[in-house]
Amino acid sequence: MYSEKVMDHFSNPRNVGEIENADGIGQVGNPKCGDIMKVYLKIENDIIVDVKFKTFGCGAAVATSSMATELIKGKTLEEASKITNKAVLEALGGLPPAKVHCSVLAEEAVTAAINDYRRKQGLEIENQLCDGCCG
Ligand code: FES
Repeated sequence: MYSEKVMDHFSNPRNVGEIENADGIGQVGNPKCGDIMKVYLKIENDIIVDVKFKTFGCGAAVATSSMATELIKGKTLEEASKITNKAVLEALGGLPPAKVHCSVLAEEAVTAAINDYRRKQGLEIENQLCDGCCG
């Protein structure tokens, strides 16, 4: 049911914990299940030099967050903000359809943390959920 990579990242999740004095913090909840994800970023010269996460979520949420943190570490903010839950799922070898919604939590928490950093820097926030319909 779960790929070897999913099991590996679930059993040995990378980058679990908190960063003291993080430059950006994002917390989101999953409306489908009520689970919670928090992501901490350390940013230097526009590059994510460290990332940690904490979750009150299921095994799939742990595995996808672990992989997502691995994918964004060392990347620029722009590169990191383009990493989607699809890319995370591909890197993990997929998830059962019923668990795909769990992977959205990591993507949203990373986006929220990047936006938190940008807000603190007085920079413009890229709202991925806005399609510009309101003008
Ligand atoms: Fe809630 Fe997976 S069931 S994140």
